[in-house]
Amino acid sequence: MTDRDRVPPPPQVPRHVAIVMDGNGRWARSRFMPRFFGHKAGVDALVRAVNTFADRGVQVLSVFAFSSENWKRPDEEVSGLMSLVLVAVSKYLTKLARDGVRIRIVGDRTAVSDKLRQAWEQAEGQTAHNTRITLAVAFNYGGRWDIVQAARRCVEDGLAPEQVTEAALSQRMALASFAPDPDLFIRTGGEMRISNFLLWQSAYAEFVFTDCLWPDFGEREIDAALAAYARRDRRFGGIRPPELALAERV
Ligand code: IPE
Ligand code: IPE
Ligand code: MG
Repeated sequence: MTDRDRVPPPPQVPRHVAIVMDGNGRWARSRFMPRFFGHKAGVDALVRAVNTFADRGVQVLSVFAFSSENWKRPDEEVSGLMSLVLVAVSKYLTKLARDGVRIRIVGDRTAVSDKLRQAWEQAEGQTAHNTRITLAVAFNYGGRWDIVQAARRCVEDGLAPEQVTEAALSQRMALASFAPDPDLFIRTGGEMRISNFLLWQSAYAEFVFTDCLWPDFGEREIDAALAAYARRDRRFGGIRPPELALAERV
């Protein structure tokens, strides 16, 4: 076995955690409340979660807030979600900025209102200097959209076919300028699917699926997911050096 085949032990704490925040609607329904109530509780859960992940040493938290496919929902729910973003920014931006959170928005901004675009710009501008943790909010985002926009940028940049490599595409993906690929991918709400979140970037992420509905996803659930991650054996297609595997068993 050469050094190239050897896989270093995983760091105990993931650098980048990606989350599909699912289950808001069911959380509200179980309380006989409208779905919007669940989305509101979901925002509160996110603000708590970002601080907990930062305390645990995670550097980037990316969250799926609105997918390319969520436009299929009833108009009332879609417009409710859009206005919730504005409410969330005015309610929480000062706190997040003070907590050292750097906010980045990823997704197709062309389809959202000017008001929303301005709110995103304000959130990004006001927190740009922060370094404690980066919160990437995926809004009007789809993993397939991301791959397509990266491919288009290769064309726009005038790349020859042989220059369209994995590295060339990776560099042009939405999170590439500020985040490594996710180490840990969590989905709340009980479904075991990716639903078009970070398709390209999650090639070697560790997955944790939990039945916990997003508004209930608190410190205990976060620590359980991080503990599950710490127990995983990441090989990236390589193999574990036998002496390392042995040392871990004792
Ligand atoms: C996830 O919660 C939030 C968004 C997609 C905006 P859902 O709204 O999908 O909640 P469930 O899955 O219907 O419970
Ligand atoms: C994924 O949840 C999108 C977000 C959490 C923003 P969905 O509820 O839209 O996914 P499906 O429809 O169950 O796959
Ligand atoms: Mg859902």
